[in-house]
Order: sequence, then C-alpha cells, then structure tokens
Amino acid sequence: MVTSKPWGGRFSEPTSELVEQFTQSIDCDYRLYKYDIQGSIAHARMLTHVGILTAQECDSIINGLLSIEQDIENGVFEWSHKLEDVHMNIEAELTKRIGDAGKKLHTGRSRNDQVATDMRLFLRDTVDALVELLHALQTTLLDIADREAGTLLPGLTHLQVAQPVTLGHHIMAWFEMLARDRKRFSEARRRINISPLGSAALAGTSFPIDRSITAKGLGFDAVSENSLDAVSDRDFAIEFCAHAALLAVHLSRIAEELILWSSAQYRFVEIGDAFCTGSSIMPQKKNPDVAELIRGKSGKVIGNLVNMLVLVKAQPLAYNRDNQEDKIPLFSTVETVTECVRVLNAMLPTIKVNRSVMRDATEVGFSTATDLAEYLVGKGVPFRDAHEIVGKTVRFCVDNQLRLDQLSLAQLQGFSPVIEKDVTPVLTVDGSIRARNHVGGTSPEQVKAAIARARNRLVSEDGGPE
Ligand code: ARG
Repeated sequence: MVTSKPWGGRFSEPTSELVEQFTQSIDCDYRLYKYDIQGSIAHARMLTHVGILTAQECDSIINGLLSIEQDIENGVFEWSHKLEDVHMNIEAELTKRIGDAGKKLHTGRSRNDQVATDMRLFLRDTVDALVELLHALQTTLLDIADREAGTLLPGLTHLQVAQPVTLGHHIMAWFEMLARDRKRFSEARRRINISPLGSAALAGTSFPIDRSITAKGLGFDAVSENSLDAVSDRDFAIEFCAHAALLAVHLSRIAEELILWSSAQYRFVEIGDAFCTGSSIMPQKKNPDVAELIRGKSGKVIGNLVNMLVLVKAQPLAYNRDNQEDKIPLFSTVETVTECVRVLNAMLPTIKVNRSVMRDATEVGFSTATDLAEYLVGKGVPFRDAHEIVGKTVRFCVDNQLRLDQLSLAQLQGFSPVIEKDVTPVLTVDGSIRARNHVGGTSPEQVKAAIARARNRLVSEDGGPE
C-alpha cells in the first residue's frame, strides 16, 4: 500500500494532490461529525450484540469516538484533506487512538450507508429545530394579529385598491402560509426517519447484522426496504429542500410587503432602527435591508433545490460520487432558512403600525364599491346590472373627485332608484369590514375567532414541539 488511504490497498501510485483537493468533502461534511459518531456507536453496539465485536472492543470504540467528539467540539481536532471526508477522518483517528479495535468498526458497513445515515440524522434534527422556530414565528404573528384585529387597511389585488381588510386578517394570511410550511416539514420527517444502515455499499452485507438494533438505537422509525435505493436516493433531502424553497418564497412575500409598507409612498409601518441600516452617502436614509435580504436569499434556497434535483436526475443505481455534492446546497438551505426565520421573528415585534395612515388609505380607490353592488343585489337588482350601475357611479366620482360616501342620497338615486337611506353604513369602510362576517372573512370578530382557533392549532398540530 503506497498511500495512507483506508482504500489504498489496490493502488500502486499515490493520489494526485489535485485529485485529493478535488474529491475531498471534509471542508463541508465535517458538520456531520456528531451524527457520524452517533451512527458509529450504534453500529458498534449492534456488532457486539451479534458477536462480531467483543464487549471490550465495543467499549474501547465508544470511548475513542467520544474523545474524538470532545476534541472536535473543543476545536482541537485536525481534519485532513487526505482522508477525504468526515467518515474516514474520524475512523482513521479512532484507529490511531485505540489500535486494532478501531479497524473493526467498519465491518458490515460502507461509507455509502454511513453517509446516508448521517444525512438522515442531521435532517431529522434540523426539521425538529425548524419546526420549533416556525412555531415561534407563528406565535409572534398571532400576537400581532390579535393586537391589530380591528386595524383597517386597503386589501389589494393587482396591487390596486380592492376592498378594505383588517391588518389582523392580513397577518393571519401569513400565519396560514407558515402553518402549511410547518406541517410540510413535520410530514417530511416521517420519510427522513428511516434507517439505511446495513445497506452497506449497495447490496447489504454477508455479516449476521441486526438492522433493527441500529435503527432503534438511533431513534429511526423503521429500516429501509431496499439497499440499492437506500444508499443512492436523496429524495428525503430534496423533499426538505423543496419545502424550504416554499418557506423561503413565503418569507420573501412577507418581506416584500414590509418593504413596500415601510416606503415613503405607503408609510403603513416603521421597522425598528435595530433592524434597518443607513446609506453611506444619503444621510436621510433608513433602509429595510433585513427584509430585502430575506427576499433576496430566497433565490439561493430555490437554486439549491434545483441543484439537488439535477444532481440526482441522471444517476444510475446505486451510489455515485455525485451524491457527495448534495451537502453544499443542503447545508446552505438549512442555514439560510433558519437564519431568515430567526431574523424575521426578531424584527416583527419592532414594527410600529401607523394605523391612521393605513385607515386613510382605505378611503381612496373606492374600496366599498363592491359593497354598494352587493347592496343593490339585496334590493333585487341582478348582480351584473348592479356591477354596471356601480361602475357608472364610480366613473362619476372619478370625474368629480368625490368618494362614494360623499354622494348625496339624491345623487345615488340618480344611478339607481332602489337606493334608500340605509345605504349610508354600506359605503363606509367600517360597514364593509363588519359585513364580511363569516369563517375566513375579514371582520374583526371573525379575525378574533380565527386567532382563537389558531392558538389551539398551535398546541395540537402533529409535528409541533408541544
Ligand atoms: N463523502 C462521500 C459522500 O458524501 C461518502 C461516501 C463515499 N463513498 C464512496 N464509495 N466513495 O457521498
């Protein structure tokens, strides 16, 4: 053997340094060390149970691995590019520390089932942490929605004034997006939490292993059914990246609204100074950079999903080294969405709502025109005719620079004789809001009820940290 590689036996020339640098993944996969050690300990225990290792060898392996873990955590472990990845770095160091018992650890396993196991353990923890962070963000949104249940703002379609809504209702729309995201992650956890250990390189192993012992020891729900599939597919990680991309899209949409709302044109909200930055040239500037970065970082998360999909798409069974490239986009996705959820959750409570500005904005753009049409329908006018009548009324208001509620009863009756005095509250934004009093509607009463239901859902939903 001319190299110190664990696989060096059949080689007669040393690896080119260029190749060493090119094939190493330690710069990135060292992050899996905790899971690699957990997996190795479970594997050693199983090998002992089936009589492949002695109890003494097992103890020595476990102690060696724990001392390595300690050194990694204290930042004194030396990672080597020559040893390619986290698995070989730890195994080589184990043998250095405990001798021959270390060399027996890899019995009945391969780096192929080892890395698949590490990734699943890593993602399981990640999902649990993310679900908890989303839960915290949803709680923050609920508290703001509760506070702003009666605050009015113009609801928009096509970014044009459509109908008045309550800010509580708007915030609860954000809540619902995140509720689905959280649920998606919880559901993905079931498919992540399957043990590939024992699949070995691709075909299983001739050793009398007991896969249920390692699965149980690592907290997996079941063992994988097919060794070829278990070492090669990364759909569990792709699924995570897909859910993360959707989450990032939702966060980006929320961020976009905060950016618009904090502009001088809207002045609906003011983001706390601690969450804005200034300009190096324009002294007056206070920019919503945090929200902009949340919006911008969604590009990376979406790109990472595409990266993962393309990585896997043309791979024949079983394991191919291409799979090593899954870690870069996966870790990037985990870091980015975690950071974005955290920072948004911290920023939201600093936001001051300019209620009067929001309310004033509902008075322009004829936001109660639909209410007038619905009023006419109530008086027996077919909806299409009502739409036409109100269209003409709005045209008249535009030409004369009037709001709908500034028209006299006589003027209104000029457009339709069925209009009576009871039209007055219909044309006000408060009347419009109160009228939308059904489940899923925007009236303050309904928003309060939705918040109450949402609080219960946060306590009872599957996959929550409760
Ligand atoms: N570092 C590799 C990865 O992340 C581990 C598996 C390598 N297996 C192999 N046969 N070269 O995929």
